[in-house]
Amino acid sequence: MSNAAFFERAYTTKGPKVIYGFSRPLYHNLMGILHGRQFDKMGFGGMIRHTEAGMLYKWASQVPANGTIVEIGCYGGLSTSYLVRGSEAQSAKIISIDPFNSDLEKQTALTDDCVSLDNKPTKELVAERMAALGAADRVELIEGYSQEVVKDWDRPIDFLWIDGNHDQAYQDFMEWTPFLNPGGRVGIHDAHPRYGYPQVADDVQKALDDDAQWTDLEHVKSIICAIKRPA
Ligand SMILES: C[S@@+](CC[C@H](N)C(=O)[O-])C[C@H]1O[C@@H](n2cnc3c(N)ncnc32)[C@H](O)[C@@H]1O
Repeated sequence: MSNAAFFERAYTTKGPKVIYGFSRPLYHNLMGILHGRQFDKMGFGGMIRHTEAGMLYKWASQVPANGTIVEIGCYGGLSTSYLVRGSEAQSAKIISIDPFNSDLEKQTALTDDCVSLDNKPTKELVAERMAALGAADRVELIEGYSQEVVKDWDRPIDFLWIDGNHDQAYQDFMEWTPFLNPGGRVGIHDAHPRYGYPQVADDVQKALDDDAQWTDLEHVKSIICAIKRPA
């Protein structure tokens, strides 16, 4: 199936989803039950569904040994925790970027209004949560903005998880995916018109349009993910 055909089917509003090759609700739900209920979503103030959490865990478990996972948009560390747990056996390094509760005036100017800036989790709180998982040495929290961090970035990435400012999902995709290793995965949250934001859905459709570059597209609730083809 071409990527364009994938989007046509994944974004249809008609009827319940059945078991297509590209959208596997039984498998996704099973992963949600097995792996997606390990952390207290409310306690974390988290924004991912259980099925999405289960698949984040699963995808993180598929990075190579000592691989690198980059997360854009950490908030309280819920998705980060699934990335950490999933990639335990791989001893992967997780770099998570978020302004946390720094410079709220700047965040107010830049916000997409999708996340409340009241009582934002601090970097220290998320660091404590990562330490409680025994992952202090595997997680690097960067207090900042993806579009600034990328300017000095020079490391290959095995799994890129985009869940930051929804107005700049396309920019994040374009600036960060050049660092993705061939065979690496990109996942974008809120990228489905029914479960996420129509703007992000449009951006992701545009970003993954090229069949020569992106393959194995998958749709898990509001996540669209894809594998970068070898050059
Ligand atoms: C939807 S929340 C992330 C939720 C988190 N992934 C989870 O599952 O719990 C989006 C986060 O991205 C942060 N953010 C906004 N713009 C950003 C940027 N340019 N770079 C990195 N993070 C950004 C927001 O402050 C917010 O904490």
